[in-house]
Amino acid sequence: MEVQVESRGTTTEADAPQGSCLRVLTCGSVDDGKSTLLGRLLFDTSSVADDQITTLTKDSARFGTVGEGKLDLALLVDGLEAEREQGITIDVAYRFFASSKRKYILIDAPGHEEFTRNMATGASNADVAIVLLDARKGLLPQSRRHTFINALLGVRHVVLAVNKMDVVGNDEETFRSICEAFEAFAKPLGFTTTYCIPVSALHGGNVVARSAEMPWYDGEPLLAYLDNLECEADGDDGPFRFPIQMVNRASSEFRGLCGQVAGGIVSVGDNVIVAKSGQPAQVRSIIHGFDYVDLARKGQAVTVVLDECVEVSRGNMLVAPQSQPCISDQFMAHLIWFDHKPLLPGRSYVCRTETDVTDATVTALKYKIDVNSLAHNAATSLQMNEIGVCNISTQTPIVFDTYHDNRNTGNFVLIDRFSNATLGAGMIDHTLWRSQNIHWQVLDIDKSARAAIKFQQPRVLWFTGLSGSGKSTIANMLEKLLHAQGRHTYILDGDNIRHGLNRDLGFTQEARVENIRRAAEVAKLMADAGLIVLVSFISPFRSERSMARGLFNPGEFIEIFVDTPIEECIRRDPKGLYRKALAGEIKNFTGVSSPYENPISADIHLKTVGRQAEDLALEIEDYLTQLAAR
Ligand code: ADX
Repeated sequence: MEVQVESRGTTTEADAPQGSCLRVLTCGSVDDGKSTLLGRLLFDTSSVADDQITTLTKDSARFGTVGEGKLDLALLVDGLEAEREQGITIDVAYRFFASSKRKYILIDAPGHEEFTRNMATGASNADVAIVLLDARKGLLPQSRRHTFINALLGVRHVVLAVNKMDVVGNDEETFRSICEAFEAFAKPLGFTTTYCIPVSALHGGNVVARSAEMPWYDGEPLLAYLDNLECEADGDDGPFRFPIQMVNRASSEFRGLCGQVAGGIVSVGDNVIVAKSGQPAQVRSIIHGFDYVDLARKGQAVTVVLDECVEVSRGNMLVAPQSQPCISDQFMAHLIWFDHKPLLPGRSYVCRTETDVTDATVTALKYKIDVNSLAHNAATSLQMNEIGVCNISTQTPIVFDTYHDNRNTGNFVLIDRFSNATLGAGMIDHTLWRSQNIHWQVLDIDKSARAAIKFQQPRVLWFTGLSGSGKSTIANMLEKLLHAQGRHTYILDGDNIRHGLNRDLGFTQEARVENIRRAAEVAKLMADAGLIVLVSFISPFRSERSMARGLFNPGEFIEIFVDTPIEECIRRDPKGLYRKALAGEIKNFTGVSSPYENPISADIHLKTVGRQAEDLALEIEDYLTQLAAR
């Protein structure tokens, strides 16, 4: 949830003076004094209403931590933390205030563990970031992480606020050595400006007013620095980009394309192109609010009316003809991972961009970045808060720019297929040209033609269950039954495939994801050849089974849950593997030291205890006969 905090006595956007509005992201934890710094900025710029000061005075007396008779400014903004503790999730809070020179939007991302995710949301449209740290602790990995993520998300200016200077005796040396470490770290990250300020948020030193305690500091206080910061004009320069969010057909004559300009400018009379179809059109009119306007700039939400009735719908983009975006299904990107469950290359996620929603997989994780040393380290997965560079392949081509060229059309998020949670955020580096050079070869004989001469329908019978549950035995039995009926079949068996095609894979989560991806792709080829394919793999994860199902036509993929309780598998232990696993001699053993996710809605659920394999095979055969008769 994103919230706009206006009711706490801070100035609203509408109250603020005219002029450029600076979007300031604050990075740091409550322990570093972030709330006090924000409270100080608001208080010392007289952005706090009288009634708020009355409440603050009362609250300070009751809950304050700064001494009797003093205002605890942290309480001005700490309300959000309290709300969070009550179970209300706040990802990013926006506070508006103004100095005599310009308007400000303070973007504040609370949270500790989830901080990276919240910060990425906030940083993606910030002009400047204040990285706050505690002078006693120096430049910790957290500050480096914050600085690095800001660089990655295209924030051009960073201010290091070295807080709690009063606690270190306002010592110049302490400040200088932190600055040196910071400058050395930030330099290769390519910010337009970096600046360090020694502050005492508690006493107000160098926040709005200059500190008399630090006469050795001849730079500007924080607010003066922000007031004078020159930011690049936002967006008029890049090429025109207009992702269409909605088509407004208010009447039979009116067809307006609604959206927010994501790059450049568009004027009435401009020629534009519909990105995916390449269809040209001319802008007949632009509506902003209730008014017809001559032009629209980046950031403005408008309705564009084209001169002719081109085929265009939500999820497409109008673009400048002379500078068109990439359209590709493979690209390289930086990825920040937010979720507790790691990123697994080969797993299918939902990829959402400004315009597109499609399935995507990380096809290669090239390396992860150590945010302390900026070293590139080999990795097979990304854990929570880790950042990596990877190749991504999408199921259908998407329209994008590089993140460097456009922060709006160059970013994407990866979403969990089941829970809809945002798992990671990506910044596109470049397209992979190889994808442009490989085309699908259309063949004249297709799946149904191949299946027809076998007098059968292609099917994939996907057996899933624990090791020793009976998958292979039942599959073997079923194949004999089908073979006897003259069916053309093949069994892909986990153990057997691991002797050849998948002999390079072990049993880590990453390896199992890849194991199933390959098995599913082979099954797809075999079904395309018109066969009835019996796939017998533990396939422990829902995500990969769902991905496999997605490769086939409705009704073609039949998930069969061979449901044998683990106690029974341990009792049977046909290969002696459970004994070894329980003795700790085999790592990552399914059901013992690696998870198995039960199917939620398998097409066939076989409870095997007390039943014969042949009987279970007949049950599946029966199901197939009924399916064919439908
Ligand atoms: S899967 O989890 O990746 O789908 P797969 O079906 O290919 O597994 O292989 C499972 C078979 O490998 C088991 O039936 C068992 O014989 C063998 N095996 C060896 N080590 C393990 C392990 N750590 N976990 C599960 N099965 C293992």
